[in-house]
Amino acid sequence: MKLKILVTAGDGIGPEVTNEAVGVLREVADLGGHTLEIDSRRIGGVAIVNDGTPLPSDTLDAALASDAVFLGAVGGNEFNSLPPDKRPEAGLLQLRAALGGFANLRPAFAFKELAVNSPLRPEIVADADILFVRELLGGLYFGEPRKWNRETGEAWNTMRYTRDEVKRVARIAFKLASRRRKKLTSVDKANVLEVSQLWRATVNDVAAEFPEVTVEHQYVDAMSMHLMNQPRNYDVVLTENLFGDILSDESAVITGSLGMLPSATIGGKVNLYEPVHGSAPDIAGKGLANPLGAILTAALILRHSAGLEAEAAAIEASVRKVLEQGYRTSDLARSNPQGFEVLSTAEMGEKVRETVKLQLLAPSR
Ligand code: IPM
Ligand code: MN
Repeated sequence: MKLKILVTAGDGIGPEVTNEAVGVLREVADLGGHTLEIDSRRIGGVAIVNDGTPLPSDTLDAALASDAVFLGAVGGNEFNSLPPDKRPEAGLLQLRAALGGFANLRPAFAFKELAVNSPLRPEIVADADILFVRELLGGLYFGEPRKWNRETGEAWNTMRYTRDEVKRVARIAFKLASRRRKKLTSVDKANVLEVSQLWRATVNDVAAEFPEVTVEHQYVDAMSMHLMNQPRNYDVVLTENLFGDILSDESAVITGSLGMLPSATIGGKVNLYEPVHGSAPDIAGKGLANPLGAILTAALILRHSAGLEAEAAAIEASVRKVLEQGYRTSDLARSNPQGFEVLSTAEMGEKVRETVKLQLLAPSR
Protein backbone atom coordinates (compact mmCIF):
# COMPACT_ATOMS: atom_id res chain seq x y z
CA MET A 1 0.00 0.00 0.00
CA LYS A 2 1.17 3.53 -0.83
CA LEU A 3 0.25 6.57 1.23
CA LYS A 4 1.11 10.19 0.53
CA ILE A 5 1.00 12.26 3.72
CA LEU A 6 1.47 16.00 3.97
CA VAL A 7 2.83 17.01 7.38
CA THR A 8 1.99 20.57 8.40
CA ALA A 9 3.76 20.60 11.76
CA GLY A 10 2.97 24.24 12.50
CA ASP A 11 3.93 26.02 15.69
CA GLY A 12 5.14 25.41 19.24
CA ILE A 13 5.32 21.72 20.08
CA GLY A 14 3.76 20.77 16.69
CA PRO A 15 7.10 19.88 15.01
CA GLU A 16 8.40 17.76 17.94
CA VAL A 17 5.26 15.70 18.40
CA THR A 18 4.57 15.12 14.69
CA ASN A 19 8.20 14.10 14.22
CA GLU A 20 7.76 11.25 16.73
CA ALA A 21 4.42 10.24 15.24
CA VAL A 22 5.86 10.15 11.72
CA GLY A 23 8.65 7.94 13.10
CA VAL A 24 6.01 5.50 14.31
CA LEU A 25 4.31 5.57 10.89
CA ARG A 26 7.63 4.86 9.17
CA GLU A 27 8.26 1.91 11.48
CA VAL A 28 4.83 0.45 10.70
CA ALA A 29 5.29 1.05 6.97
CA ASP A 30 8.73 -0.60 6.93
CA LEU A 31 7.48 -3.67 8.77
CA GLY A 32 4.48 -4.10 6.49
CA GLY A 33 6.25 -3.28 3.23
CA HIS A 34 4.12 -0.18 2.69
CA THR A 35 5.36 2.94 0.91
CA LEU A 36 5.07 6.21 2.77
CA GLU A 37 5.63 9.44 0.91
CA ILE A 38 6.03 12.30 3.37
CA ASP A 39 6.11 15.95 2.37
CA SER A 40 6.28 18.89 4.82
CA ARG A 41 4.89 22.42 4.47
CA ARG A 42 4.36 25.45 6.66
CA ILE A 43 1.11 26.54 8.27
CA GLY A 44 0.14 28.93 11.09
CA GLY A 45 2.56 31.29 12.83
CA VAL A 46 5.67 29.87 11.20
CA ALA A 47 4.05 30.54 7.81
CA ILE A 48 3.03 34.09 8.80
CA VAL A 49 6.67 34.81 9.71
CA ASN A 50 8.21 33.15 6.60
CA ASP A 51 5.56 33.59 3.92
CA GLY A 52 3.40 36.45 5.19
CA THR A 53 0.26 34.30 5.34
CA PRO A 54 -0.96 31.55 7.68
CA LEU A 55 -1.79 29.24 4.74
CA PRO A 56 0.71 29.61 1.86
CA SER A 57 -0.59 28.45 -1.52
CA ASP A 58 2.08 25.74 -1.86
CA THR A 59 0.87 24.25 1.41
CA LEU A 60 -2.72 24.23 0.20
CA ASP A 61 -1.74 22.71 -3.17
CA ALA A 62 0.33 20.00 -1.50
CA ALA A 63 -2.52 19.29 0.93
CA LEU A 64 -5.03 18.84 -1.89
CA ALA A 65 -2.62 16.53 -3.71
CA SER A 66 -2.08 14.24 -0.70
CA ASP A 67 -3.96 11.24 0.70
CA ALA A 68 -3.96 12.65 4.23
CA VAL A 69 -2.85 15.84 5.97
CA PHE A 70 -1.23 15.53 9.39
CA LEU A 71 -1.27 18.78 11.35
CA GLY A 72 0.77 19.43 14.51
CA ALA A 73 -0.58 22.60 16.11
CA VAL A 74 -0.96 26.29 15.29
CA GLY A 75 -0.80 29.43 17.39
CA GLY A 76 1.57 31.50 19.48
CA ASN A 77 1.39 34.37 21.94
CA GLU A 78 3.10 36.81 19.57
CA PHE A 79 0.05 36.66 17.25
CA ASN A 80 -2.60 37.26 19.91
CA SER A 81 -3.25 40.88 18.98
CA LEU A 82 -3.91 40.14 15.27
CA PRO A 83 -7.49 40.13 13.93
CA PRO A 84 -9.04 36.65 13.55
CA ASP A 85 -8.48 36.46 9.77
CA LYS A 86 -4.73 37.16 10.10
CA ARG A 87 -3.96 34.78 12.96
CA PRO A 88 -2.29 31.34 12.76
CA GLU A 89 -5.69 29.77 13.50
CA ALA A 90 -7.08 31.29 10.28
CA GLY A 91 -4.65 29.12 8.31
CA LEU A 92 -6.04 26.00 9.92
CA LEU A 93 -9.64 27.07 9.35
CA GLN A 94 -8.90 27.81 5.67
CA LEU A 95 -7.24 24.43 5.35
CA ARG A 96 -10.22 22.67 6.96
CA ALA A 97 -12.60 24.44 4.58
CA ALA A 98 -10.50 23.63 1.51
CA LEU A 99 -10.13 19.94 2.38
CA GLY A 100 -13.86 19.75 2.98
CA GLY A 101 -13.94 17.31 5.91
CA PHE A 102 -17.03 18.12 7.96
CA ALA A 103 -16.99 15.32 10.55
CA ASN A 104 -14.29 15.72 13.18
CA LEU A 105 -13.92 12.50 15.19
CA ARG A 106 -12.43 13.01 18.64
CA PRO A 107 -12.19 9.81 20.62
CA ALA A 108 -11.74 10.32 24.37
CA PHE A 109 -10.62 7.13 26.00
CA ALA A 110 -9.74 6.84 29.69
CA PHE A 111 -6.53 4.82 29.95
CA LYS A 112 -6.70 3.19 33.36
CA GLU A 113 -3.00 3.91 33.97
CA LEU A 114 -3.82 7.64 33.76
CA ALA A 115 -6.85 7.56 36.06
CA VAL A 116 -4.74 9.11 38.84
CA ASN A 117 -4.22 12.15 36.60
CA SER A 118 -7.92 12.91 36.48
CA PRO A 119 -9.37 15.11 39.20
CA LEU A 120 -12.43 12.85 38.96
CA ARG A 121 -12.55 9.73 41.13
CA PRO A 122 -11.13 6.61 39.43
CA GLU A 123 -14.45 4.74 39.61
CA ILE A 124 -16.14 7.60 37.71
CA VAL A 125 -13.68 7.64 34.80
CA ALA A 126 -12.74 3.95 34.61
CA ASP A 127 -13.45 2.57 31.12
CA ALA A 128 -15.04 5.79 29.88
CA ASP A 129 -14.88 5.62 26.08
CA ILE A 130 -16.53 8.46 24.22
CA LEU A 131 -16.38 9.35 20.55
CA PHE A 132 -17.16 13.00 19.95
CA VAL A 133 -18.33 13.76 16.43
CA ARG A 134 -17.90 17.50 16.02
CA GLU A 135 -19.33 19.25 12.96
CA LEU A 136 -16.31 21.15 11.63
CA LEU A 137 -17.34 23.40 8.74
CA GLY A 138 -20.40 25.26 9.95
CA GLY A 139 -21.77 27.17 12.90
CA LEU A 140 -20.14 30.24 14.40
CA TYR A 141 -16.71 29.42 12.97
CA PHE A 142 -17.82 29.94 9.38
CA GLY A 143 -21.27 31.57 9.54
CA GLU A 144 -21.77 34.91 7.76
CA PRO A 145 -22.23 37.73 8.52
CA ARG A 146 -19.38 38.21 10.96
CA LYS A 147 -17.73 41.45 11.91
CA TRP A 148 -16.23 43.64 14.58
CA ASN A 149 -17.43 47.14 13.81
CA ARG A 150 -14.99 49.35 15.67
CA GLU A 151 -16.86 52.58 14.88
CA THR A 152 -20.14 51.49 16.42
CA GLY A 153 -18.59 49.24 19.06
CA GLU A 154 -20.57 46.19 17.93
CA ALA A 155 -19.43 42.75 16.87
CA TRP A 156 -21.34 39.74 15.61
CA ASN A 157 -20.97 36.17 14.44
CA THR A 158 -23.62 33.92 13.00
CA MET A 159 -24.46 30.39 14.06
CA ARG A 160 -25.91 29.04 10.84
CA TYR A 161 -26.62 25.49 9.70
CA THR A 162 -28.51 24.03 6.79
CA ARG A 163 -30.48 20.83 7.09
CA ASP A 164 -28.08 19.10 4.71
CA GLU A 165 -25.05 20.11 6.79
CA VAL A 166 -26.65 18.58 9.87
CA LYS A 167 -27.79 15.49 8.00
CA ARG A 168 -24.41 14.56 6.59
CA VAL A 169 -22.58 14.80 9.91
CA ALA A 170 -25.42 13.08 11.78
CA ARG A 171 -25.29 10.15 9.32
CA ILE A 172 -21.60 9.66 10.02
CA ALA A 173 -22.20 9.82 13.78
CA PHE A 174 -25.06 7.29 13.62
CA LYS A 175 -23.03 4.96 11.42
CA LEU A 176 -20.16 5.05 13.91
CA ALA A 177 -22.58 4.53 16.83
CA SER A 178 -24.05 1.49 15.09
CA ARG A 179 -20.56 -0.06 15.10
CA ARG A 180 -19.96 0.82 18.77
CA ARG A 181 -22.33 0.64 21.75
CA LYS A 182 -25.26 1.93 19.69
CA LYS A 183 -26.00 5.03 21.67
CA LEU A 184 -25.93 8.56 20.29
CA THR A 185 -26.23 11.73 22.34
CA SER A 186 -26.88 14.87 20.32
CA VAL A 187 -25.93 18.16 21.96
CA ASP A 188 -27.74 21.44 21.28
CA LYS A 189 -29.28 24.49 22.91
CA ALA A 190 -32.77 23.94 21.49
CA ASN A 191 -34.42 25.64 24.46
CA VAL A 192 -33.06 28.96 23.18
CA LEU A 193 -31.69 28.74 19.62
CA GLU A 194 -33.61 28.19 16.36
CA VAL A 195 -30.46 26.73 14.80
CA SER A 196 -30.51 24.10 17.55
CA GLN A 197 -34.18 23.34 16.88
CA LEU A 198 -33.29 22.64 13.26
CA TRP A 199 -30.35 20.56 14.50
CA ARG A 200 -32.54 18.47 16.80
CA ALA A 201 -35.34 17.93 14.25
CA THR A 202 -32.81 16.86 11.61
CA VAL A 203 -31.01 14.48 13.98
CA ASN A 204 -34.39 12.89 14.75
CA ASP A 205 -35.06 12.45 11.01
CA VAL A 206 -31.70 10.76 10.49
CA ALA A 207 -32.31 8.59 13.59
CA ALA A 208 -35.16 6.92 11.71
CA GLU A 209 -32.56 5.49 9.28
CA PHE A 210 -30.73 3.84 12.20
CA PRO A 211 -33.34 2.05 14.32
CA GLU A 212 -30.63 0.03 16.06
CA VAL A 213 -29.14 3.18 17.61
CA THR A 214 -30.71 4.79 20.69
CA VAL A 215 -30.75 8.57 20.40
CA GLU A 216 -30.99 11.13 23.18
CA HIS A 217 -30.73 14.91 23.17
CA GLN A 218 -28.97 17.04 25.76
CA TYR A 219 -28.67 20.78 26.17
CA VAL A 220 -25.04 21.78 26.02
CA ASP A 221 -24.99 23.33 29.50
CA ALA A 222 -26.41 20.20 31.11
CA MET A 223 -24.14 18.02 28.98
CA SER A 224 -21.02 19.76 30.23
CA MET A 225 -22.04 18.70 33.75
CA HIS A 226 -23.21 15.17 32.89
CA LEU A 227 -19.88 14.50 31.16
CA MET A 228 -18.06 15.06 34.43
CA ASN A 229 -20.64 13.25 36.60
CA GLN A 230 -21.20 10.18 34.45
CA PRO A 231 -18.74 9.97 31.57
CA ARG A 232 -19.45 6.26 31.16
CA ASN A 233 -23.01 7.04 30.14
CA TYR A 234 -21.85 8.25 26.74
CA ASP A 235 -20.88 6.46 23.56
CA VAL A 236 -21.09 8.74 20.50
CA VAL A 237 -21.65 12.43 21.22
CA LEU A 238 -22.72 14.55 18.23
CA THR A 239 -22.22 18.31 18.41
CA GLU A 240 -22.15 21.44 16.31
CA ASN A 241 -18.77 23.10 15.80
CA LEU A 242 -18.30 25.34 18.86
CA PHE A 243 -20.03 23.03 21.34
CA GLY A 244 -17.73 20.22 20.19
CA ASP A 245 -14.66 22.42 20.51
CA ILE A 246 -15.56 23.15 24.12
CA LEU A 247 -16.74 19.68 25.19
CA SER A 248 -13.76 17.92 23.64
CA ASP A 249 -11.34 20.00 25.71
CA GLU A 250 -13.49 19.28 28.75
CA SER A 251 -13.17 15.58 28.04
CA ALA A 252 -9.44 15.85 28.73
CA VAL A 253 -10.49 15.89 32.38
CA ILE A 254 -11.84 12.36 31.90
CA THR A 255 -8.76 11.06 30.11
CA GLY A 256 -6.41 12.81 32.51
CA SER A 257 -4.55 14.82 29.87
CA LEU A 258 -5.24 16.89 26.78
CA GLY A 259 -1.94 15.53 25.48
CA MET A 260 -3.47 12.10 24.86
CA LEU A 261 -6.35 13.08 22.56
CA PRO A 262 -6.24 12.46 18.78
CA SER A 263 -8.64 13.57 16.05
CA ALA A 264 -9.53 12.74 12.46
CA THR A 265 -11.63 14.83 10.12
CA ILE A 266 -13.41 12.85 7.44
CA GLY A 267 -16.04 13.28 4.76
CA GLY A 268 -14.22 15.72 2.45
CA LYS A 269 -11.73 15.51 -0.41
CA VAL A 270 -8.75 14.80 1.84
CA ASN A 271 -8.89 13.69 5.46
CA LEU A 272 -7.21 15.93 8.02
CA TYR A 273 -5.61 14.57 11.18
CA GLU A 274 -4.68 16.66 14.20
CA PRO A 275 -4.15 16.07 17.90
CA VAL A 276 -6.68 18.01 19.99
CA HIS A 277 -4.00 19.77 22.04
CA GLY A 278 -2.59 23.16 21.10
CA SER A 279 0.88 24.50 20.37
CA ALA A 280 1.89 24.84 24.08
CA PRO A 281 4.51 27.55 23.37
CA ASP A 282 5.65 27.53 27.02
CA ILE A 283 7.19 24.05 26.68
CA ALA A 284 8.10 24.08 22.96
CA GLY A 285 11.59 22.94 22.00
CA LYS A 286 12.40 21.57 25.45
CA GLY A 287 11.73 17.88 24.81
CA LEU A 288 8.92 17.99 27.37
CA ALA A 289 5.93 17.66 25.03
CA ASN A 290 3.83 14.51 25.11
CA PRO A 291 3.86 12.93 21.63
CA LEU A 292 1.17 10.33 22.45
CA GLY A 293 -1.73 12.47 21.18
CA ALA A 294 0.09 12.85 17.86
CA ILE A 295 1.02 9.14 17.82
CA LEU A 296 -2.61 8.16 18.45
CA THR A 297 -3.53 10.56 15.63
CA ALA A 298 -1.11 8.67 13.37
CA ALA A 299 -3.06 5.51 14.22
CA LEU A 300 -6.21 7.24 12.96
CA ILE A 301 -4.45 8.01 9.67
CA LEU A 302 -3.80 4.30 9.17
CA ARG A 303 -7.38 3.43 10.15
CA HIS A 304 -9.27 6.04 8.12
CA SER A 305 -6.97 6.80 5.17
CA ALA A 306 -5.09 3.54 4.61
CA GLY A 307 -7.51 0.84 5.72
CA LEU A 308 -4.75 -0.58 7.96
CA GLU A 309 -6.92 -1.43 10.97
CA ALA A 310 -4.54 -4.01 12.46
CA GLU A 311 -1.65 -1.55 12.31
CA ALA A 312 -3.76 1.24 13.82
CA ALA A 313 -4.81 -1.06 16.64
CA ALA A 314 -1.18 -2.10 17.16
CA ILE A 315 -0.17 1.54 17.68
CA GLU A 316 -3.01 2.04 20.17
CA ALA A 317 -2.07 -1.17 22.00
CA SER A 318 1.54 -0.01 22.11
CA VAL A 319 0.62 3.29 23.71
CA ARG A 320 -1.32 1.37 26.35
CA LYS A 321 1.59 -1.01 26.86
CA VAL A 322 4.10 1.79 27.29
CA LEU A 323 1.86 3.36 29.94
CA GLU A 324 1.42 -0.03 31.64
CA GLN A 325 5.18 -0.38 31.77
CA GLY A 326 5.36 2.85 33.74
CA TYR A 327 6.78 5.24 31.13
CA ARG A 328 5.49 8.81 31.25
CA THR A 329 6.26 12.18 29.74
CA SER A 330 6.56 14.85 32.42
CA ASP A 331 3.03 16.22 31.90
CA LEU A 332 1.69 12.74 32.70
CA ALA A 333 4.08 12.06 35.57
CA ARG A 334 3.27 15.42 37.23
CA SER A 335 5.10 15.55 40.57
CA ASN A 336 5.68 11.83 40.07
CA PRO A 337 4.82 10.39 43.50
CA GLN A 338 4.69 6.89 41.94
CA GLY A 339 8.27 7.09 40.70
CA PHE A 340 7.50 6.59 37.01
CA GLU A 341 10.30 6.66 34.48
CA VAL A 342 9.98 10.10 32.93
CA LEU A 343 10.86 10.24 29.23
CA SER A 344 11.55 13.12 26.85
CA THR A 345 9.44 13.61 23.73
CA ALA A 346 11.97 11.73 21.61
CA GLU A 347 12.45 8.93 24.15
CA MET A 348 8.69 8.38 24.35
CA GLY A 349 8.53 8.22 20.54
CA GLU A 350 11.34 5.67 20.52
CA LYS A 351 9.64 3.61 23.24
CA VAL A 352 6.42 3.44 21.22
CA ARG A 353 8.34 2.51 18.05
CA GLU A 354 10.09 -0.38 19.83
CA THR A 355 6.79 -1.57 21.24
CA VAL A 356 4.95 -1.32 17.92
CA LYS A 357 7.68 -3.39 16.33
CA LEU A 358 7.26 -6.16 18.92
CA GLN A 359 3.51 -5.88 18.61
CA LEU A 360 3.50 -6.30 14.83
CA LEU A 361 6.08 -9.10 14.83
CA ALA A 362 4.25 -11.01 17.59
CA PRO A 363 0.68 -9.74 17.46
CA SER A 364 -0.52 -11.98 20.31
CA ARG A 365 0.63 -9.39 22.88
C1 IPM B 1 -9.25 22.71 18.01
C2 IPM B 1 -8.65 24.08 18.14
C3 IPM B 1 -9.03 24.90 16.91
C4 IPM B 1 -10.54 25.03 16.91
C5 IPM B 1 -8.34 26.27 16.82
C6 IPM B 1 -6.85 26.16 16.88
C7 IPM B 1 -8.78 27.02 15.58
O1 IPM B 1 -9.03 24.68 19.33
O2 IPM B 1 -8.97 22.03 17.01
O3 IPM B 1 -9.99 22.29 18.90
O4 IPM B 1 -11.09 25.90 17.61
O5 IPM B 1 -11.18 24.27 16.18
MN1 MN C 1 -10.20 23.36 20.64
